[in-house]
Amino acid sequence: SKKIILDTDPGIDDAMAILFAEAHPDIDLVGITTVYGNATIENGTRNALYLKERFGFRCDVAKGAEKALVRPPVGPTVVVHGETGFGDLNASEPQHTKADPRPAYQYIIDTVKASPGEITLVAVGPLTNFALALDAAPEITTLVKEVVIMGGAFGMNDHRGNVTPFAEANIHDDPHAADKVMTADWPVVVLGLDVTEESFFSAEYLDALRDEGGEVGQFIWDVSRYYLRFYANKLGLNGCHVHDPSAIAYVIQPDLFTLRKGPIRVMTEGPGEGMTLQKFDGRRYQTDDWKDMPSQNVGVGVNEPALLNLYREAI
Ligand code: BDR
Ligand code: CA
Repeated sequence: SKKIILDTDPGIDDAMAILFAEAHPDIDLVGITTVYGNATIENGTRNALYLKERFGFRCDVAKGAEKALVRPPVGPTVVVHGETGFGDLNASEPQHTKADPRPAYQYIIDTVKASPGEITLVAVGPLTNFALALDAAPEITTLVKEVVIMGGAFGMNDHRGNVTPFAEANIHDDPHAADKVMTADWPVVVLGLDVTEESFFSAEYLDALRDEGGEVGQFIWDVSRYYLRFYANKLGLNGCHVHDPSAIAYVIQPDLFTLRKGPIRVMTEGPGEGMTLQKFDGRRYQTDDWKDMPSQNVGVGVNEPALLNLYREAI
């Protein structure tokens, strides 16, 4: 099975992704590293520890960054994920479960170095922890198996942004970190709104998870009530898009996604702050800032029915 560290800002769809990773036999969830984003770092870390204790995960949990590298804090996404990140639920303080003493970036460095070539880093929140790890130990680029990111929007199928017309939340929260991670010389796969908004968990699908998925299915149903109200009120949809679980689905079954190759940059200021760009033509330009950059992969298509099946079977 594939060893992953899941970097996350739990978060309702983050919980859906964490439980998916834990449930699927092809994934060995080695560690969860937390980051601010949907919730404060305190609330997000408590949510991760709560899941670990409640569902008996064996993975480590390491607490990560509380703010972006450079940009001022955007603040928790209360309208989407609730006051504490888990909607209407209030995750109690775990009694027997503690975070690893190391900060997330150090945990990532140590774990990657202990298993060279074996760890896939998966990010479903702002990319601050990965950027801090790159700063402290640039050599990890040669030791990580792959970096899989849920974030960004590349304009496919008209998907451009969700917090601004051009920026997706995870990237907008820390555009400097995202630019560093996506331009580093390691294999990166970015699944943005272009694919995550092409998959949908309908209300009926979530009801079926509750009915067939035991305690985990019930939890996913409970935690998603608040999220579904947001989708209904703001977007007029009866269900939710499949953001963070898509990153886990990619690790399990990459051929669910169609990818496009080319270097990526992230806009760090101005009206395009947090916008993701990919140069995917082979053309050479006179002033070519792009020419020596590592080519990465961006998701441009997804097999939605197969993804929904994979998720349901795992839960
Ligand atoms: C991303 O932002 C967060 O609200 C979700 O958890 C997901 O990671 C979607 O834009
Ligand atoms: Ca997230």
